[in-house]
Amino acid sequence: MSAIIDAAARIPNLASQETFVAGVPHDAFDAVRAMPGLYWQPAERGTLNGGFWAVTRAKDIVAIEKDPETFTSTLGPWYPLTGKNPENILWNDPPKHGELRRAVAKAFGPRVVANFDDWVRPIVVETLQAYVEKGGGDFVPDVAAMIPSRVMARVIGVPRQDELRVVKWTFDVFAAMQVPDDGKTFWAVNNPIRDYMWELRAAKLREPADDMATALAQANERGELTEAEYRSFTSVLLLAGFETTHTVMAQAMRMIVEDADVARMADEAVADGKTDALVDEFLRYITPAMNMGRVATRDLEFGNTKIRKGDLMQLYFIAANRDPELFGEPHRFNPSRPERNHMAFGGGCHTCLGGPLAKLELRILFEEMHKRRIRLRLAGEPRRGRQTQINQLLSLPLALI
Ligand code: HEM
Repeated sequence: MSAIIDAAARIPNLASQETFVAGVPHDAFDAVRAMPGLYWQPAERGTLNGGFWAVTRAKDIVAIEKDPETFTSTLGPWYPLTGKNPENILWNDPPKHGELRRAVAKAFGPRVVANFDDWVRPIVVETLQAYVEKGGGDFVPDVAAMIPSRVMARVIGVPRQDELRVVKWTFDVFAAMQVPDDGKTFWAVNNPIRDYMWELRAAKLREPADDMATALAQANERGELTEAEYRSFTSVLLLAGFETTHTVMAQAMRMIVEDADVARMADEAVADGKTDALVDEFLRYITPAMNMGRVATRDLEFGNTKIRKGDLMQLYFIAANRDPELFGEPHRFNPSRPERNHMAFGGGCHTCLGGPLAKLELRILFEEMHKRRIRLRLAGEPRRGRQTQINQLLSLPLALI
């Protein structure tokens, strides 16, 4: 018993953004995972019952995500809970969730996305060329954020002449997320994107194209999606596809410039044609979306713990991705590891829709950097974000070697 109390004393406040500024508290997650039950983290705001359960074992997360009747997304998919948002796919359970997901799912399947190589590669090459020409710079805005925001603008079907405008909006929304207010700053910059996307709908109905805005506009026209659902989807796609993908690009590059062994392993993996395994290992190790949440719909016993109706379950994918039950030597970065079943894209019915696209962007980035022999070194201090959910890097100043 005293060992458990000692372990609990070592757990920092997982509800506080400050805890994540210096780095991910992996020791604390290891200690929580080793406890017989779940760990209760008190929280002053953003929960229904004054805190949340930290769920760190992979098997517990899988069980929760498989059972949306007992663990719902409708009260919010992450901490802090902000109430209902029924037009957003992430705030839904089956069967409504399936209806929304079907509106976009086909567009992001692995076979469809494999054909995106033809237009994603030129975006990556252009971005890298501009970066090299100016001798390096902050890798986060110049490369890591630029590639996924341009890719998502193209997937949605934003006309070329507006692409950089949409990229700028995406950056603004991202910056607004850093502002600790009640969401006012966020909505002030997010609403213009939604208005723009709604205007795009009319253009797509006049001139249909092979893009998301056309598919969503037609679904809206057929009465399958409401206006609010259309608006929500376009901004969810833009942001979900941007924030996470750019985080893994930025953090992977930080690992490469900070650790010669990682740089060597990455180089060897690409040279040996094992870039997909390298991408999976970066995804596991970094886990850009560190957690998602579900709320218990009834009192129950789960994971040796009494759960009350309304309790928020924080599903720490970042801890599950270092669960020794799934991964040998989980804290070691090893692109040759046999286990590729990481949980960076979550699980259950909400499993990330954009996994194949994110992996394609990452593979092309590593391939093109390797082909062009781009070698970088640190030219300043990397700066992490104040975030409990995204394993965020705000700045990574680099110079060419
Ligand atoms: C490395 C990049 C990415 C990571 C790590 C990531 C991670 C995630 C995670 C953890 C979830 C929630 C899963 C759950 O609750 O179990 C999610 C959902 C989602 N992601 Fe991604 N994502 C990435 C890229 C993308 C991209 C490129 C797109 C756009 C095509 C995208 C679109 C979505 C959507 C629409 C959902 C909601 C799915 C649903 O509710 O059914 N994501 N993602």
